[in-house]
Amino acid sequence: MYLDIGNALGGSPGLTEDTLDHLDERVGIAHERIEQGRADDEHGYAALNLPETVDTDEIRAAVEPFGTPEAVLTVGIGGSALGAATISAALSDQTDVEAHFLDNVDPEDTAELLDSLPLDDTVVNVVSRSGTTAETLSNFLVVREAMDDAGVDWTEQTFVTTGDDGNLRNLADKHDLPSLKVPEGVPGRFSALSTVGLACGALQGLDIEGVVAGAQTEMDSLSGSLYDSPAYAYGAVCYALAERGALTNAMMPYAESLEYFAEWFAQLWAESLGKEQVGQTPARALGATDQHSQLQLYRAGPRDKLVTLVRPREREDIDIPETDLEGLSYLGGSGLGELLDAEFEATEASLATEGRPNVRIEIDAVDAEGIGELLYAMEAATVMYGELAGLSTFTQPAVEWGKKAARGLLGGGDFEEADAVADKRTYT
Ligand code: PA5
Repeated sequence: MYLDIGNALGGSPGLTEDTLDHLDERVGIAHERIEQGRADDEHGYAALNLPETVDTDEIRAAVEPFGTPEAVLTVGIGGSALGAATISAALSDQTDVEAHFLDNVDPEDTAELLDSLPLDDTVVNVVSRSGTTAETLSNFLVVREAMDDAGVDWTEQTFVTTGDDGNLRNLADKHDLPSLKVPEGVPGRFSALSTVGLACGALQGLDIEGVVAGAQTEMDSLSGSLYDSPAYAYGAVCYALAERGALTNAMMPYAESLEYFAEWFAQLWAESLGKEQVGQTPARALGATDQHSQLQLYRAGPRDKLVTLVRPREREDIDIPETDLEGLSYLGGSGLGELLDAEFEATEASLATEGRPNVRIEIDAVDAEGIGELLYAMEAATVMYGELAGLSTFTQPAVEWGKKAARGLLGGGDFEEADAVADKRTYT
């Protein structure tokens, strides 16, 4: 991954060369802490070891009985879906196996999806670290019934990734379903490079080894200096800009295949760093589409934003046909990709000329290695930001609160969080 932080300097809010030098000292200290956590396989830090610890042969062997299905339906939510969705979307050109994701519990959407799927040739990939998440288990029960109704033996077409215990593990054991284990010490949103994020890709026949190799390259570049480590530099620059008022980080990839990446990033950033009254709100944008909407705000609205521009250095192009239409002849002879790159550079310059901080991230291509690099780098950046801000990066108490409240409301246990919702209902 290539990083250019030049446009984070000198603007407003902005950093100076001196700030970077000072930050570099703090990065060195944080790096030591992270290395210790990795060496001890501490909760959360263990995720940064995944390029070395994940066993892609084991994943391939586990999904091998399913052969090549027509479709894979991943049932999971949050960290148990977004990593897989990001990899699938980035590498969709490598396969004919369709990938679908059922994360939300919107009945209309679910009904529509189930109606459209070839259920007799779909592998259901159920993923839940805890094995207790209401949305995931409810969706799975609905899918299971749909398969029953269609005369399909769901036990032959269901694959499970979960922890050592919990309802989902019990179900997998009871029906002898093929399964993988979520590795210890890897929180949901840091699990893209583990069994959680890679099983779907393996079922689709994607190059998951390449994804891990890309992550490994990024892992090898971690060092005690932000000047040598793009991932840490990104995390440190975001942290320092947030301290100076850039409280929103708009993640703006210039590739449709990276749209899910922005969504994955938003979860990682918000759930890891939104604590103790601090954090930087992730916004999702897509170039060039959002140049025609959000860019107005980013260039001329409050000076409280950082824009992160992401693009591949190489992409397949489509020629724009020559035309003699008045005023349009300048387009002929270029490519759509060329136009997209020009739009990228125009956005970057338009922000820079107004002193609006922005950062450029590039990968060689949206391929297995490229997406592996991006995923790993953003995880390492998140951990670095969390260390610099003194946060407990790997917890998610607010998310857990909501999960307990929902379960309690549906009669799934006695949770005080549910009482708060009941009180509110009475009040309104
Ligand atoms: O990052 C997290 O911890 C969450 O987003 C979880 O991944 C999400 O809530 C799903 O949890 P589970 O995998 O236990 O079903």
